[in-house]
Amino acid sequence: MKIKEILKAKGENQEVKIKGWVRTKRGSKHVFFIALNDGSTISNIQIVAEGENFSEELIKQITTGSCIAAEGNLVESKGSGQAVEILANKIEILGSADADEYPLQPKKHSLEFLREKAHLRFRTNTFSAVFRLRHALTFAVHKFFNDKGFFNLHTPIITGADAEGAGEMFGVTNFDLSNIPKNENGEVDYSKDFFGSKTNLTVSGQLEAELAALALGQVYTFGPTFRAENSNTSRHLSEFWMIEPEVAFADLDDNMNLAEEFLKFCIQYCIDNNADDLRFLDNRLEDQEKNLKKEERSEMGLLERLQFVIENNFHRLTYREAIDILRNSKPNKKKKFQYIIEGFGSDLQSEHERYLVEKKFKKPVIITDYPKGIKAFYMKQNKDGETVRAMDILFPLIGEIIGGSQREENLELLEKRMDEMDVDKKELWWYLETRKFGTCVHSGFGLGFERLVMFVTGMKNIRDVIPFPRTPQNAEF
Ligand code: 4AD
Ligand code: MG
Repeated sequence: MKIKEILKAKGENQEVKIKGWVRTKRGSKHVFFIALNDGSTISNIQIVAEGENFSEELIKQITTGSCIAAEGNLVESKGSGQAVEILANKIEILGSADADEYPLQPKKHSLEFLREKAHLRFRTNTFSAVFRLRHALTFAVHKFFNDKGFFNLHTPIITGADAEGAGEMFGVTNFDLSNIPKNENGEVDYSKDFFGSKTNLTVSGQLEAELAALALGQVYTFGPTFRAENSNTSRHLSEFWMIEPEVAFADLDDNMNLAEEFLKFCIQYCIDNNADDLRFLDNRLEDQEKNLKKEERSEMGLLERLQFVIENNFHRLTYREAIDILRNSKPNKKKKFQYIIEGFGSDLQSEHERYLVEKKFKKPVIITDYPKGIKAFYMKQNKDGETVRAMDILFPLIGEIIGGSQREENLELLEKRMDEMDVDKKELWWYLETRKFGTCVHSGFGLGFERLVMFVTGMKNIRDVIPFPRTPQNAEF
């Protein structure tokens, strides 16, 4: 049985057999207690064993980290820490763990230390809770869209297109790197490469999703995306997962409504289904902040913050309004911001986003209608000639969690914008044809999955919410 089932069943005097990893062993020669965890839940189960029933050799091998199977009777616990425990009559060592070498001790380790033990950090309470929640969120994403009649679309991981036009892509090639074919002009001859053209790892499945949306009506992608930006921050990964819905006949308002409902659904799903893990992480954060000065502590606990986001409407404002607020804000006037907001055209940095969310509105914020110069070519152009129908959703402690827009469905306007931004129309001929043949108003957005996992778990570094983080200079494990 799994520990999760045993604790739910609470059936007593029942013979059970479980397998798991030893967290701790304590007690004496006569009677000892094992805290066992099998990953099914944050809770351990206590195994009580009388020394005389087991060989000394076996008892010695029951060390922190070792893997065992135990059989026995499930009884009401006499101790205070748990409702039930197992009186073991049989214990088998499945995999021993050398106690002197096992890297994890039954004490708190720093997250940085555990990042270097990526193969074992799953064994800790914190990371097992995080990854159970990551699963719950994955499931919630699919449930949300499936219930709404969306179709999940697998967009390519290897692509020739640079959807965001940012150029921060990882090339994909099988050239012999010490002998790359060149043409007469000395340029790399991609016609000789595996795919016969230059290819990259995708930065977004959006352009392909647009094709499908203009036929299937409403689709969503959920896949890995790759960005070679050299930003070593607590919110950026080189490989991250993105969810990108794309909806025909939806305008920017529909898009914002969908995104808000979606985020709230995912958070509520975790509250409903992963209460134990959330409670553990809530306590963990509170514990961590105990030693901080009052003004450095979070205003809300984790659970309180999740509830708050579900219960409040996100504040919606335009980029122009946001700039006015920021320009007149204290940190801007006192030059406390690293990047001073001069006026229209300034890009918002995470310090500005967090000011709006955490200081000004104290709730999630949606900013719309950004200057066209700082956004991608495919966004719907407003009549003012200066802004586009973009939206960014900003979250407390995270900053940008979603970026999206209404798309430019007018072929002429789209081509003009591509020319202005130097986007190769020939390469994107297949994308442009959707505007030639039965175009329509449509919108979509991208949710950075790890940023959502960060928000829900309260983890402060994005490396701690993905099993195997890839960041500049780091792809071990
Ligand atoms: O704002 P972005 O670049 O938007 C797009 O890629 C659009 N094609 C989405 C669309 O309209 N379909 O990225 C979307 C989100 C960001 O809001 C952020 O949450 C996340 O992806 N993101 C990252 N997450 C982790 N590491 C990175 N390096 C990220 N870059 C973006
Ligand atoms: Mg963005």
